[in-house]
Amino acid sequence: MGSEVDWDALRGKAVEIMGKAYAPYSRFPVGVAAIVDDGRTVWGCNVENAAYGVALCAECGLVSHLVATGGGRLVAVSCVGRDGEPLMPCGRCRQLLWEHGGPTCLLLTPEGVLPMSEVLPQAFGPDNLSIAAPPA
Ligand code: THU
Repeated sequence: MGSEVDWDALRGKAVEIMGKAYAPYSRFPVGVAAIVDDGRTVWGCNVENAAYGVALCAECGLVSHLVATGGGRLVAVSCVGRDGEPLMPCGRCRQLLWEHGGPTCLLLTPEGVLPMSEVLPQAFGPDNLSIAAPPA
């Protein structure tokens, strides 16, 4: 699965970006890099704040980079923690990745490459809104 993806290179980019994180409070820098369906690479790092609760996860930066540079679909994602090893995105960030990559987007996890359909099973997503009640 994902054999056409250069996972070593993608993780290398995530490690490089992890080195730019602003994480003076947790001292837990995170980096993430992803391949987009048009072939470009996007990335992000966590950016913390003295008001701890408003910290931005690395994946927030990633999806901002994605959208700000033209959008598209995420096809392969590598997220790393301070040791450079694969890190599972937090629940909120799995939702962010789902929105922009959907069930087939691949994630490099500590257990190998997994599709988002296994990382966020029974996800809530854009399709669920199609059965929303029409406006009154
Ligand atoms: N963090 C991320 O950037 N992404 C995740 O998916 C998990 C957690 C950051 C948030 C905070 O700056 C630090 O890791 C410790 O929780």
